[in-house]
Amino acid sequence: MIIKVMTLFPEMFLGPLDNSIVQRAKEKDIIDLEYINIRDFSDNKHKKVDDYPYGGGPGMIMAPQPIFDCYNYVINMLDLKESEKPRVIYLSPKGKVFNQQMAIEFSRERHIIMLCGHYEGVDQRVIDEIITDEVSIGDYVLTGGEIPAMVLIDSITRLLPGTLSQDQCYEDETFHSGLLEYPQYTRPASFRGLEVPDVLISGHHKKIDEWRRKESLKLTYKRRPELLKNIKLTDKERDFLNSIKGNNCQAID
Ligand code: ADE
Repeated sequence: MIIKVMTLFPEMFLGPLDNSIVQRAKEKDIIDLEYINIRDFSDNKHKKVDDYPYGGGPGMIMAPQPIFDCYNYVINMLDLKESEKPRVIYLSPKGKVFNQQMAIEFSRERHIIMLCGHYEGVDQRVIDEIITDEVSIGDYVLTGGEIPAMVLIDSITRLLPGTLSQDQCYEDETFHSGLLEYPQYTRPASFRGLEVPDVLISGHHKKIDEWRRKESLKLTYKRRPELLKNIKLTDKERDFLNSIKGNNCQAID
């Protein structure tokens, strides 16, 4: 996958995405990441990239010219098939809130272009003309779109075939099944008087699976009950959840 990031602060990406699993994915040519400085495309002799908002109001708006020219440069760099339109993601607190389903969807693309906003946002004509997806990483405001872009790159990269090894498989993890993940333990079985649940040491795989599913259901009910709406439950699981509710188990933790 080729990911091109249009940003005013390319240096911010150096470090966070140069380690661990994302770095390995780059070394294995699973992803090709490039950061392009929007300021380099400014026509202005002072390399200005922002201006006051029409209609007044606080803050500055990223002007269209440097972004459009940067985008054209990026598009010309990509080896696009006839009629192929890459996803162009604008990171903004006004966007659709990112989730694992969106990470899976983006991980199927051949090319992704990201635009990181700054100041009070970008000129609306940029959004109308070139953006395919406006994405937020949560209901809070950050100083710019760089950290959100890194969040997306990390979560997309780990889904690409060949990135995670077999023992780092994501199929059981939180959100993949639509439920929060069950508790995990490693050796020793007894640590300062704290014991690992017997069932996990029993070697009885069916019982272990049942225990994990129940723990996932219980945790999801307590912390994120809204996620249960999308889960197909067996009659037994429904009874189990009803028994938790009957036990005065609060749906908040
Ligand atoms: N830019 C500023 N805040 C943001 C957020 N929450 N998500 C994505 N981009 C942002």
